[in-house]
Amino acid sequence: MAVKIRNKKYSIMKSVRHQYENWPFPGTDFRSREWLLLLRQIGKIINSNNKQAARFADIGCGTGHTVLALARIFTGTQFWGIDISRNSIRQAKGLASDNQIENVTFRNINIITDRLLHLGKFRVVYCAGVLHHIENLDKAFARVATLVEPGGYLILWLYGRYGRARHRLNQKFLKTLASGLSPSKTLELAHEFAVQFKDRLAADGGFYTPRGSGLDGVRWLLDHPHWLADQMIPGFENAFDLGDIFRLLDNNGLVFHNWLGVSDSITGYTSSKLIEKRFAILNRRDRLLAIEYLIKPDYYFIVARRA
Ligand SMILES: C[S@@+](CC[C@H](N)C(=O)[O-])C[C@H]1O[C@@H](n2cnc3c(N)ncnc32)[C@H](O)[C@@H]1O
Repeated sequence: MAVKIRNKKYSIMKSVRHQYENWPFPGTDFRSREWLLLLRQIGKIINSNNKQAARFADIGCGTGHTVLALARIFTGTQFWGIDISRNSIRQAKGLASDNQIENVTFRNINIITDRLLHLGKFRVVYCAGVLHHIENLDKAFARVATLVEPGGYLILWLYGRYGRARHRLNQKFLKTLASGLSPSKTLELAHEFAVQFKDRLAADGGFYTPRGSGLDGVRWLLDHPHWLADQMIPGFENAFDLGDIFRLLDNNGLVFHNWLGVSDSITGYTSSKLIEKRFAILNRRDRLLAIEYLIKPDYYFIVARRA
């Protein structure tokens, strides 16, 4: 399916697409904590007592590493991977055929401008690191949410406005200096910045790599140009908070299920009986918001369910 973006109003979308045509996202590290959390969550959903074979969609699948790794494990599930970047989908298809993985279908689809309904409904819709690259979050979210079948799950990974705030200023610094430069020169500038300001970058934190956001994370960026581009010179990037996520769920008939990797209990953070007592009288949403304010997350990894 061809993805054509002719309209001027889609200039942000164009720059995001160009970014991932130039530097297809190489995927996650399968020893990471996020991967293990995801695997456990998907195992619970897919192996639950549902007789119909599950369908799983990875929206904005990049080069397909995650969906292919899952397809190898959950062989009775039909997986789909869709992405706006042709280059990413080409690489994903190549990986699938090199590894003889047959239960994944890849399609070059833009979730904002292309038809999605023909894809059908899915037990799990996974959308990681994608929606913060789209200008109209409400529209993108609504379109993705329609793919979740009744009783099915949406698993969302989104950048956090509090934890990523200082990093976003580093991105703005680079954007200011890169005005008018070609993509390759912009990447060269980002590399120079990460070399020159590595301590500052690590102290500001908030960027994401499989090696964290300290000095090891900076070294990871310097060694992996596609990650450097993704983290330092995004075509467009936004960041959100839990209030935004609750609003999106409410507006689209989804119910918050859990926050992967984050407990909604305060006991892991404090031994103060007074704070515990005050926390205990809050409803679940306010508990989650309180924890959010306390930990100021760089990102959210949220599971929601369609009633
Ligand atoms: C940071 S990468 C994340 C890739 C993958 N989900 C992962 O976690 O490894 C963001 C992906 O979103 C895709 N993307 C951005 N806007 C999109 C859109 N409008 N429709 C479909 N895919 C989009 C990009 O091409 C890119 O591959």
